Amino acid sequence: MTFDIRPLRESDLPEADRIYRLAFGTFMGLPDPMAFAAGADSIGTRWRAPACNAAFGAFEGETLVGSNYVANWGSFGFFGPLTVRPDYWSKGIAQRLLEPTMDTFANWGVRQAGLFTFPNSPKHLGLYQKYDFWPQRLIALTAKKVSGEVAASAAFEGSRAELIAAARAMSDTMYPGLDVSGEIDAVLDQKLGEIVTVRDGASIGAFAVCHVGPGSEAGPKAVYIKFAAAREGKHFGALLTACEALAARRGMSAVTAGVNTACHAAYRKMLAQGYRTQFTGVAMQRGNGAGYLAPDAFVLGDWR
Ligand SMILES: CC(C)(COP(=O)(O)OP(=O)(O)OC[C@H]1O[C@@H](n2cnc3c(N)ncnc32)[C@H](O)[C@@H]1OP(=O)(O)O)[C@@H](O)C(=O)NCCC(=O)NCCS
Repeated sequence: MTFDIRPLRESDLPEADRIYRLAFGTFMGLPDPMAFAAGADSIGTRWRAPACNAAFGAFEGETLVGSNYVANWGSFGFFGPLTVRPDYWSKGIAQRLLEPTMDTFANWGVRQAGLFTFPNSPKHLGLYQKYDFWPQRLIALTAKKVSGEVAASAAFEGSRAELIAAARAMSDTMYPGLDVSGEIDAVLDQKLGEIVTVRDGASIGAFAVCHVGPGSEAGPKAVYIKFAAAREGKHFGALLTACEALAARRGMSAVTAGVNTACHAAYRKMLAQGYRTQFTGVAMQRGNGAGYLAPDAFVLGDWR
């Protein structure tokens, strides 16, 4: 069998999305594999944000059999969801998709790269180790139910450009060049959710890139924090509360967020504030580097 690897076209998206659900649903043993991540869109939303994502497909002739997505967060990058149609597993297709993925990191000048995977799968760990990605700490995918009104502290009132500049300045202090402005633009341009902020003087003490409800990465009834950063613990706690206020205001029943347990203070703060782990993954980073993760880094994001 020969396979071509090329950028995904818009017309490939329905089949790419179908394979994504089928592959994860099959691997996880769901009774109805296609029910995986029902109501959430992690494929089209990324394809429509080319400033911070690249999308590759593996084709046998004209038939799509797998795809992968690469995210650009400035000096940091991650990839996934990487999926292959189940009847094509173990034929080397994931590895073919990882070739342009590594080239993309190099072209972007990414200094540190990571991924989220299943800690209990020798195949997944072995596959990624071939590319110098090594297992590190667990990533806790957490959720907190929200009901009734929640009062939030004051938000930043500047323009989008001012918000992006303030967010970039904050993430840059955590890891030089870390920059999620592409994610902020994607959420605002595609109306996927909102950027939640906690004001600190004239600037921000914390911000969260939040997907909200159907058609976003969150799914039908949730706010999903795709990335968040805070200067210190008090801002982080206020930020979580502000995300819960967003959920209440938008009629969502939960806030979901992934936290890397390497960020110990953030993980403990989430548990203390009522977040409960629903699923655990493991972070793998290239060269076993630390990147922006640190015990005192108040940062959220699960790299899925
Ligand atoms: C995970 C997935 C993308 C892999 O795709 P694939 O095309 O089957 O993978 P490949 O055939 O390219 O490579 C698999 C590699 O894992 C290696 N592997 C398998 N079992 C292994 C083990 N026990 N220990 C070490 N390595 C192992 C294989 O040896 C193979 O490398 P090889 O070609 O040198 O033998 C695919 O199974 C899938 O879609 N799964 C469901 C969705 C998913 O889990 N996505 C990834 C989320 S992080």
